[in-house]
Amino acid sequence: MTRVEVALAGRAYDVLIGAGLVARAGELAGPHLKRRRVAIVADDTVMRLHGGELVAAFVRAGIESPIISVPAGEASKCFAELERISDELLELELDRGDLIVAFGGGVVGDLAGFAAAIYKRGVDFIQIPTTLLAQVDSSVGGKTAIDTPRGKNLIGAFHQPVLVLADLAMLDTLPDREMRAGYAEVIKYALLGDADFLTWLEANGGRVLARDPDALSHAVARCVAMKAEIVAEDEKEAGRRALLNLGHTFGHALEAEVGFGDALLHGEAVALGCAQAFRFSARQGICRAADAARAEAAIAASGLPTRLSQIANGASFAADRLIAHMGNDKKAEGGQLTFILARRAGEAFVQKGVDIPALRTFLIEEGAKP
Ligand code: NAD
Ligand code: GLY
Repeated sequence: MTRVEVALAGRAYDVLIGAGLVARAGELAGPHLKRRRVAIVADDTVMRLHGGELVAAFVRAGIESPIISVPAGEASKCFAELERISDELLELELDRGDLIVAFGGGVVGDLAGFAAAIYKRGVDFIQIPTTLLAQVDSSVGGKTAIDTPRGKNLIGAFHQPVLVLADLAMLDTLPDREMRAGYAEVIKYALLGDADFLTWLEANGGRVLARDPDALSHAVARCVAMKAEIVAEDEKEAGRRALLNLGHTFGHALEAEVGFGDALLHGEAVALGCAQAFRFSARQGICRAADAARAEAAIAASGLPTRLSQIANGASFAADRLIAHMGNDKKAEGGQLTFILARRAGEAFVQKGVDIPALRTFLIEEGAKP
């Protein structure tokens, strides 16, 4: 088992990474409990596959663990589910000393984490992420949110968990497509800040995707360590944390255009967005074309999309519509677009006030309609 600390003053917490942690959840959660009771929030798929093991672990530790189940999928990150969860927590008479366990992918982590942030003005919660994306990214760092019809993650709060248990064995049941989508975030870390890790992924990415225990453990631990370091320095994204959004401004525009959901998974959009961020950087003369080609090859090797023509209707997207979506990005300020661009593979930076005509020309070169 690997332990990574998120060193936030007064609110430091551990991320534990290894196989078999769900079976030890009762013993590991124990020190965080004031009474032997937690509420589990899980999606119905994860509950069906792994809920029995988690509940048994709590029973063994003498911890009562009622379950609040939500439908699997992004649509659950909404006010209606948040209200229902809050109501069930009240019905269970969870008090401020009790704790919520978010058991699932990024959807459940964001939703249950936000419920924990606002329930009785805030209760502690533990993240038990069950997707690769959630293990390397969303379960760490305290961003919690729901979506509204106007956009993703627009209503939320920073609320750090007290513990994260990334059980690598959970990934055995994860569909390959979801595994690849999580791998997009793994490559993102390498591209934004660790050239050596990129070299390692170029050699070992296939082993990560095949769930080789050693490779998976190394990759998850490296991503979590990078995220922990960035979050400890810039919890509320005043500066450096924005680097974690590499590929996300391009990617969010694609997701918004396709319609959030199964047609284009978040990780797939991030993969294509990272490739575009590197190509745009090269087009602007900020990084070498060879670095952009290297980033694209590393992404493509895993089977993730790197070109608009690879996603449904991608070639029919209008450049101006994509730019309009980019204007809704949370990083946009005063009509100016902020992008995470790259100087080289393994070194990204925050670029404010990106030139919109140059961006438009680039998107048309990429295959978007004028
Ligand atoms: P998800 O939670 O929807 O999970 C993907 C699918 O996999 C679901 O159908 C789920 O039921 C299933 N699943 C989960 N674990 C499984 C397992 N072990 N075996 C089999 N099936 C399993 O999606 P995700 O990709 O984990 O997360 C995406 C969400 O994360 C988005 O809402 C995104 O906005 C959010 N996110 C948040 C942050 C953050 O910092 N808070 C960062 C990145 C992404
Ligand atoms: N996923 C980006 C962040 O946590 O800041």
